[in-house]
Amino acid sequence: MPCKKVLLTGASGGIGKHIISDLAAKGMKIALQYNTNPEKLTEHLSNTEKHPDTEIKSFKADITSENEVLSLIENVKKEFGSIDILINNAGLSINAMTWKMSLKDWNNVLSVNLTGSFLCTKHVIPVMKENNFGRIIYISSVVPQIGVPGTSAYAASKAGIAGLCKTVSKEVIKNNITVNMISLGYFEAGLLFQIPEDIRKQIKESIPIKKFGDPAEISECINYICSEKSSYLTGQSINLNGGLY
Ligand SMILES: NC(=O)c1ccc[n+]([C@@H]2O[C@H](COP(=O)([O-])OP(=O)(O)OC[C@H]3O[C@@H](n4cnc5c(N)ncnc54)[C@H](OP(=O)(O)O)[C@@H]3O)[C@@H](O)[C@H]2O)c1
Repeated sequence: MPCKKVLLTGASGGIGKHIISDLAAKGMKIALQYNTNPEKLTEHLSNTEKHPDTEIKSFKADITSENEVLSLIENVKKEFGSIDILINNAGLSINAMTWKMSLKDWNNVLSVNLTGSFLCTKHVIPVMKENNFGRIIYISSVVPQIGVPGTSAYAASKAGIAGLCKTVSKEVIKNNITVNMISLGYFEAGLLFQIPEDIRKQIKESIPIKKFGDPAEISECINYICSEKSSYLTGQSINLNGGLY
């Protein structure tokens, strides 16, 4: 990837940590968004090896607030001049059987995963259009593709991202902006460790490759999507799931 300016949301999370370490090795300008957990982000950064040309800045924002997203994008633009790549990685999972799911939890999940991704997309597009280049990526999930009991809010939010991704891809392709999502199976990071160990064991058994994903493979996929040569890949889901779907 040539020297690009990246905005990564959810940088303080488990998968964020792995994406940071790959980006930081490349000499890029990297804007990292966190919300409630600056300490985690500091910890990730203290364990990250940086290319001498890499520049990293951290920004606090709650992506469910349009004002906060607007300030986030404006501040990143002020700092780096432009944004070439947006990785919509921030996410929330609250699990309960549908008949036990509170409306509050349902709304929380939808507002972070779907509305938050929409807001970041909405406000980054004008910045990308100025340069006639952009790569927008959503980190999504296998869950809406296979149906997992107890995950209706999460699945609905990620299924919504599929519609958002497909639609936006058609809206901005004339501006040389591609829009894709990576639908993850179960990876050794972050949300996976919210799942009780006995259920984790059952999940691992159900994965044809019989192991959880290595988060480094997510970065391989991001690098492919972000390459200047990947201009023809847009509106797609890349399914990284060990054969689960
Ligand atoms: N781990 C997996 O196996 C797996 C599988 C499929 C898909 N995914 C997807 O991968 C992405 C990252 O997941 P993860 O495993 O790294 O989860 P995680 O460790 O729980 O991290 C979640 C991240 O989202 C941020 N976030 C949550 N609510 C936010 C809000 N209102 N505004 C801004 N940021 C907010 C958190 O920020 P703070 O902590 O700073 O508040 C944190 O950085 C998610 O989209 C998830 O759905 C993960």
